[in-house]
Amino acid sequence: MKAVHNFNAGPCVLPKEAIESTINAMRDFDNTGVGIMEISHRTPGWERIMAETRQLWRDLLNIPEEYEILFLGGGASTQFFCVPANLMRSKAAYLQTGVWAKKAAKEAKLFGKVDIIASSEDKTYNYIPKGWTVPADADYFHITTNNTIYGTEIREDFTAEKCNNVMLVADMSSDIMSRPVDVTKYGLIYGGAQKNVGPAGVTFVIVKKSILGNIGDRAYMNPLPTMVDYRTHAAEEAKNISMFNTPPVGAIFLMHETLNWLKNTIGGVAEMNKINTKKSNLLYEEIDRNSMFVGTVADKADRSIMNHCWVMAPGYEDKQDAFMAYAKECGMVGIKGHRSVGGFRASLYNACSIEDVEALVQCMQDFEKKNK
Ligand SMILES: Cc1ncc(COP(=O)(O)O)c(C=O)c1O
Repeated sequence: MKAVHNFNAGPCVLPKEAIESTINAMRDFDNTGVGIMEISHRTPGWERIMAETRQLWRDLLNIPEEYEILFLGGGASTQFFCVPANLMRSKAAYLQTGVWAKKAAKEAKLFGKVDIIASSEDKTYNYIPKGWTVPADADYFHITTNNTIYGTEIREDFTAEKCNNVMLVADMSSDIMSRPVDVTKYGLIYGGAQKNVGPAGVTFVIVKKSILGNIGDRAYMNPLPTMVDYRTHAAEEAKNISMFNTPPVGAIFLMHETLNWLKNTIGGVAEMNKINTKKSNLLYEEIDRNSMFVGTVADKADRSIMNHCWVMAPGYEDKQDAFMAYAKECGMVGIKGHRSVGGFRASLYNACSIEDVEALVQCMQDFEKKNK
């Protein structure tokens, strides 16, 4: 079979070793003769997997004990309403850097006042707005660190000063574990796993324990439904089990294997960041060099190192289908741009290799030679 290079935006490529070991565990977990999906989540074997997965998160992102790590269902989209349900008393600030951020803000409006402090919607979110001020009376400030559809990224952990001392909350669905993050700058970090940390089906929430005590005296929706209330899950986690109900066991197992790969094969998040930067530079250099293509992000400083977006350069628009067909012939998978941006998007998540990126660059160069 010819080589396939998977650039899907999520769900996406995962480490081959992680997939292999998960398949084995699905057949036979720990030499028990029974698969991981076929045992009770209240068995010591499964509880060990839960505890190890949480420890991997702590080790890889240097998450202090003051934070709980929850593995929930419902995807990042469920957190769009869980965050305000738990944290909003009257008002929250949102930075609108894409449709995911917009969807998060829409849900928050169900719970109180939402202040969109800046938006890049005017230019199809092709930049990260600057020069905004967070209102000091906001209960929290929500950002989306990586804008999967548009290929922009906030690659800094905003300081308390920049956030006007308002609690920072981040959707890190598509760049978590791609680089070191200073978790202490955030009150809460959440995301769907299905990019860098595993398959779809499990959602991570890293939440500062001290903010949980503040829930409950809000005017709106009090008390919270049990499953929505972070304290339900945090109380279980405190017992080191984190299973109020049946967790998504298959997804968590593959997350466990993916994080093991990141820690032991790659050597951690700082190493991953070096590899990701190298991959990303390789592709952006080609996008900028190749006369037939042009990147879509307005300011290079805002470019994501996860999702890379480009279109045909002026004068070559009619070659778009031809490039797509040629790329397919070369084994490229998942490079069609999101309909709102058009053109192409290559997602270089953690498990995407340098060789995959080199193959894409070669394909772009060959296409230029054949078509100019
Ligand atoms: C940045 C971001 N936030 C949220 C979502 C929605 O995640 P989910 O499908 O897990 O609800 C996505 C999906 O791609 C995303 O990229």
